Amino acid sequence: MRGCSKVLLKPRTSEEVSHILRYCHEKNLAVNTQGGNTGLVGGSVPVFDEIILSTALMNQVVSFQDISGILVCQAGCILEELSRYVEERDFIMPLDLGAKGSCHIGGNLATNAGGLRFLRYGSLRGTVLGLEVVLADGTILNCLTSLRKDNTGYDLKQLFIGSEGTLGVITAVSILCPPKPRAVNVAFLGCPGFAEVLQTFSTCKRMLGEILSAYEFMDAECMQLVRQHLQLTSPVQESPFYVLVETSGSKVEHDAEKLSSFLEHALGSGLVTDGTLATDQGKTKMLWALRERITEALARDGYVYKYDVSLPVDRLYDLVIDLRARLGSQAKHVVGYGHLGDGNLHLNVTAEAFSPSLLGDLEPYVYEWTAGQRGSVSAEHGVGFKKQSVLGYSKPPEALQLMQQLKTLLDPQGILNPYKTLPTRA
Ligand code: MLT
Ligand code: ZN
Repeated sequence: MRGCSKVLLKPRTSEEVSHILRYCHEKNLAVNTQGGNTGLVGGSVPVFDEIILSTALMNQVVSFQDISGILVCQAGCILEELSRYVEERDFIMPLDLGAKGSCHIGGNLATNAGGLRFLRYGSLRGTVLGLEVVLADGTILNCLTSLRKDNTGYDLKQLFIGSEGTLGVITAVSILCPPKPRAVNVAFLGCPGFAEVLQTFSTCKRMLGEILSAYEFMDAECMQLVRQHLQLTSPVQESPFYVLVETSGSKVEHDAEKLSSFLEHALGSGLVTDGTLATDQGKTKMLWALRERITEALARDGYVYKYDVSLPVDRLYDLVIDLRARLGSQAKHVVGYGHLGDGNLHLNVTAEAFSPSLLGDLEPYVYEWTAGQRGSVSAEHGVGFKKQSVLGYSKPPEALQLMQQLKTLLDPQGILNPYKTLPTRA
């Protein structure tokens, strides 16, 4: 999504953010907060002439506690730089995603980004301990505590996590980092069908237990696209589905042994037709690239219609099959991949160019299908500008109304990231 603005402001401190918002509040000027601008639903892109408030210069680490692993930093720190910082201290960030090289931690929180470590470390709603937020009128709300337990009434920080800059501007964060695992191993597998992908997941959970840290899947068309556009080659023989299993534990030999016996079992029982293991960093990275770079390969294939839905795992791939039949030759590719361990499907459709008739075949069909399974129309990418009109498929009218009331309470003039997140008519 493209936008334009005449004004870009780059504050360095929360006080500067407060001055900017106080001024904008008085003059009734709209503000669009922007981090790394890597979101997939247009939340960080101005729609008309909003002032862009960039967090790019708010990139300082405030403190790190070696014993507890609690990091406090400004909102504009780049995720990959934070990862490096905490890894030097023997910890890791609780989240990781393909856009790590440019996304900001403040944006990760504002969009409640999911990513590749969700299965193991859970949502940011659990790992974030505190936030500092500047409200629409310039008030600085300091909830930047670093306590594991704080049961003092409403958990206000949760309001701002996932609010996409519509309720306040996140300026600093306190986040709990897990210890760096001593051993990270990856298995890349070929599966003969989706039923086997599901069975392999159950087997994995039982055989790998607490060391399982990711279970990602991609279909054969995804592999074809990463090969065609990025020249990446499959490390296993051609299969209808591929699975990436990651383990993170404390003992290399122990984890490798567990993973090998799982692979032996999966191969022996026909759940998996081919597989390869990686214990060194180079090969691990190479295997992860096949999964992480699918988005990039899709972007090179043409116009991309993107859907990010949560579904019951056993129905997850039916939507892809259904759409392939529905769209026929209108689409170049209909692909399914994603965080299977989290019940999160990324359904993407590519075509030579944007076509209103193809869009008409996709929507509201995809949303109705998802609602029919009581799924979510946005599993992890958020709502932004692109999905606000479809929230009703996943939330009842009473919930949308309460969201609108909260917006009115916190931003009565509607200056914060207008036209985003909330349905136009709630
Ligand atoms: C991913 O899991 O690769 C991301 O959410 C990006 C995407 O779906 O395009
Ligand atoms: Zn994803």
